[in-house]
Amino acid sequence: MKKKLGSKNYLCPVPVTLIGANVNGKPNYITIAFVGVMDYSHVSVASARNHYTNAGIKENGTFSVNIPSTRLVRETDYCGIVSGKKADKSAVFETFYGSLETAPMIQECPINMECRLVQILDVPHHDVFIGEIVETYCDEDILGDDGVDFAKVDPILFVIYGSDYWRFGEPFARGWSVGKELLKK
Ligand SMILES: Cc1cc2nc3c(=O)[nH]c(=O)nc-3n(C[C@H](O)[C@H](O)[C@H](O)COP(=O)(O)O)c2cc1C
Repeated sequence: MKKKLGSKNYLCPVPVTLIGANVNGKPNYITIAFVGVMDYSHVSVASARNHYTNAGIKENGTFSVNIPSTRLVRETDYCGIVSGKKADKSAVFETFYGSLETAPMIQECPINMECRLVQILDVPHHDVFIGEIVETYCDEDILGDDGVDFAKVDPILFVIYGSDYWRFGEPFARGWSVGKELLKK
């Protein structure tokens, strides 16, 4: 038997991200779980229209997507509790910039994606920022033989109707491979 849950977005768990934008000339970081993969080089970020961050993204046409490790859970949660309207969050992390010059990125996060704003979608309560990733930065010590090793990234995962932070698990099958077992039938 299936039970109806109503209109609920259960595309979960998602990686928790920290979105960086310069607002009033200073870096501001916001915790965002509503992130999406558009394709290999584009992301979507849904930020409620009243957030402090949104004005900075619109003004500069740039932002960053940073992936925190579980060791940064306190700072990550803090940026999701406290608004830049009330507190200066510019010193929570060490900031660096890339070629776009106005997308602040977080040194302590193992992965940083520097984005150019290409479109804003208007959904009922959120601005959905579509970004083109112009450069991706990573800490050298998270690289394995096949590129980024997500076990080393140790991202924070989140189920959007709950409040617990989760950890990444283990690989259990090979993609584009395990399904071939059914071809033999
Ligand atoms: C785990 C977590 C996930 C969040 N995800 C989102 C989100 O996807 N979209 C959003 O608009 N706010 C989200 N928030 C709330 C904002 O991060 C929060 O309101 C923040 O303080 C706004 O910062 P700002 O006003 O400096 O931009 C989340 C908060 C937490 C703790």
